[in-house]
Amino acid sequence: MPRYAARLLTLPDYPLGKFPEKKRQLVARGMDIIDLGAGDADLAPPPVAVERLAAAARTPSMSRYGFGLGLVEYREAITQFMKKRFDLEFDAFSEVVPLIGSKEGISHVALAYLEEGDVAIIPEPGYLAYVGGTHLAQGEPYRYALRPENGFLVDLDDIPEDILARTRLLYLNYPNNPTAAAAPLAYLQRVVKRCRELDILLVYDNAYSEMAYDGYRPPSIFEVDGARDVAIEFHSMSKTYNMTGWRCGWALGAKELVAPLARVKLFVDTGAFMAVQAAAAAALDNWSEFVPANISVFQERRDAAVAAFRENGFECDAPCGTMYLWIPLPEHITSAEFAEFLMEEEGVIVLPGSSFGAGGEGFFRVSFVTSPERIREAASRAGRVLTRLSVGA
Ligand SMILES: Cc1ncc(COP(=O)(O)O)c(C=O)c1O
Repeated sequence: MPRYAARLLTLPDYPLGKFPEKKRQLVARGMDIIDLGAGDADLAPPPVAVERLAAAARTPSMSRYGFGLGLVEYREAITQFMKKRFDLEFDAFSEVVPLIGSKEGISHVALAYLEEGDVAIIPEPGYLAYVGGTHLAQGEPYRYALRPENGFLVDLDDIPEDILARTRLLYLNYPNNPTAAAAPLAYLQRVVKRCRELDILLVYDNAYSEMAYDGYRPPSIFEVDGARDVAIEFHSMSKTYNMTGWRCGWALGAKELVAPLARVKLFVDTGAFMAVQAAAAAALDNWSEFVPANISVFQERRDAAVAAFRENGFECDAPCGTMYLWIPLPEHITSAEFAEFLMEEEGVIVLPGSSFGAGGEGFFRVSFVTSPERIREAASRAGRVLTRLSVGA
């Protein structure tokens, strides 16, 4: 029997992958399921994107290979967005890498930068592509626990010198999945300074740059002086435009820093479907018509979720960004036990904190991906489970 590579054994479990099948089984048992698991909203993409996709699908040239260049119009829409939104200038050709969803680039960047045994600093809890990409590149993850006491921020000064000396990559993501924390600009300035001193590539995952509330405007890492020397920033069409399944994102940064990622991709893929790139360009151009209204729908859901979980016995702050609540559990209840019980007994899917790495224990994550009414119903079922698991504790 052909033997697979040992590196596969280093990969952690990927809990989100199991939910579609689990959900199917529960529905077959006649349960009323409320799925607040994946960050995958039930909302429609921008109509201009749908129309552009349909028209492009009927244009034969759009069905050809995109190669690394892809659709010029998409690259230009990206640089125009970066200018309008962050007042930053990028060259559409040498400083942008179109991606098949930002996850693809976030994972592949490790192949471009890590040699066997090099360290990547992985915030935990965190998006699993960081640890996955690191293992696939045979790098060594150094897990850093994001906790409320440290504002869910990574402090490089806490990391031993000998680890820092071997570190090639630092993954950061703010607004953060799953903790919903935001990073102050002064913090980002400190991190950029340290990465420059230590020659660490800062992989800045800005997937939630547009998902912010109450007037908060998340920055680009490139608003920090010196960031162009050390950072690559990742953006996604997924959450901002309700286009998760379309698989479209981009990376950007100084040409010397993004070129190694583009080179890896030359041997892995041949670009996203160009009709999707055309649709993404249309969506980016339509930012002002679509995004603020879409964010107000999420804000209404956030407000409903915060109020409802509080009413049902949980503690939670109203996050200023992302589509998540990161809710602490009493010490005697493990997050896996709580999530399992809630799903099996009450048909509500949430993610246990431990599924984002051991550093996430003690919390669970709720996504605002359905209506306020359904979120309220889910919170009341969660409250019943909290009471049952607390009795006799
Ligand atoms: C922090 C973070 N980064 C990146 C992504 C990936 O987004 P996509 O590959 O859909 O662009 C996600 C998706 O959940 C995420 O939460």
